[in-house]
Amino acid sequence: MKALILSGGAGTRLRPITHTSAKQLVPVANKPVLFYGLESIAEAGVTEVGIVVGDTAEEIKAAVGDGSAWGIEVTYLPQEAPLGLAHAVLIARDFLAEDDFVMYLGDNFIVGGISGLVEAFRAERPAAQILLTQVSDPRSFGVAELNGAGDVVGLEEKPEHPKSDLALVGVYLFSPAVHEAVRAIEPSPRGELEITHAIQWLIEQGRDVRSTTIDGYWKDTGNVADMLEVNRSVLERVEADIAGKVDQASEIIGRVRIDAGAEVVASRIVGPAVVGAGAVISSSYVGPFTSIAEGCRIEDSEIEYSIVLENASVIGVSRVEASLIGRHVEITPSPRVPAAHRLVIGDYSKVQISS
Ligand code: DAU
Repeated sequence: MKALILSGGAGTRLRPITHTSAKQLVPVANKPVLFYGLESIAEAGVTEVGIVVGDTAEEIKAAVGDGSAWGIEVTYLPQEAPLGLAHAVLIARDFLAEDDFVMYLGDNFIVGGISGLVEAFRAERPAAQILLTQVSDPRSFGVAELNGAGDVVGLEEKPEHPKSDLALVGVYLFSPAVHEAVRAIEPSPRGELEITHAIQWLIEQGRDVRSTTIDGYWKDTGNVADMLEVNRSVLERVEADIAGKVDQASEIIGRVRIDAGAEVVASRIVGPAVVGAGAVISSSYVGPFTSIAEGCRIEDSEIEYSIVLENASVIGVSRVEASLIGRHVEITPSPRVPAAHRLVIGDYSKVQISS
């Protein structure tokens, strides 16, 4: 069994927060979303991993390296343009050879890993195994139609009139039967070779396509409320670990992870929360469900239920909540009186706030 991770694409379809970087590297609880996928793959005992890369190849390579941090061996597979998920399978043909594989979309987040699924697939070896999840608006996903017995009878890519609320999750298990399918299909109206159509082709050929419905699924759609929620759900599981420096005047309550090299001075942090290496929190309150990334500076401020990306600073501001703050952002007070602030600010922005 091998793994094929899709981390190509331009990364520019998304709004402010990822405009300078790959969407697979958007952090959840201070860790890129792609790393959770790599962990799940390694945990399932799959060690030969191909990563499809596009415009943002250098960023992905810099973050993942040779994969040894996860005990896996990574082969990078350049895709000349984002011509579709099935196109990614086409270009990975030599790497995949005659092995079964799990295909994992690098911007998808699945709570609870994939070990059980991989094990079941290895035992039964259907032609394909797909994952489904209930969503409120299926029109921006692949959508499955099941019959009364729960078998998949049809799949459509981003239908205007979905036949169900079951969306295709970006993790697929395939036997080598999929190679014939990706060669058989034509580009969709959006000009991509859709993996959804390849799986539909397998169904039409009478091949065994199975589905499992899961909970605990997230993908970055650019919706900040969803991003704060997935951050919260990951922080729910964080373990207390104080490797950084905390002075006597500070109070750390509940499950808080403070990475080595971070410093907390005269502050109160109420978990679950994480503080990345090199961050300095001084004379501040950091409340539950907050991720403060590496190199941030939080000074004379109050912040909770928020995500602060690398090297941002929040100085003299109370109070920040439900906010997503980009890399290298600087938030400082302006002379007027504050209310609560709700912010969505792109990388490198500079904002002045009444405080
Ligand atoms: O996330 C689940 C959805 O993913 C499924 O419900 C859909 O059926 C499936 O088509 C796909 O839809 P998206 O339009 O959201 O996929 P997106 O273009 O965002 O690409 C998903 C990942 O694959 C992303 O990490 C970029 C990467 N990719 C994408 C394309 C089109 C590649 O590596 N190469 C590509 O050619």
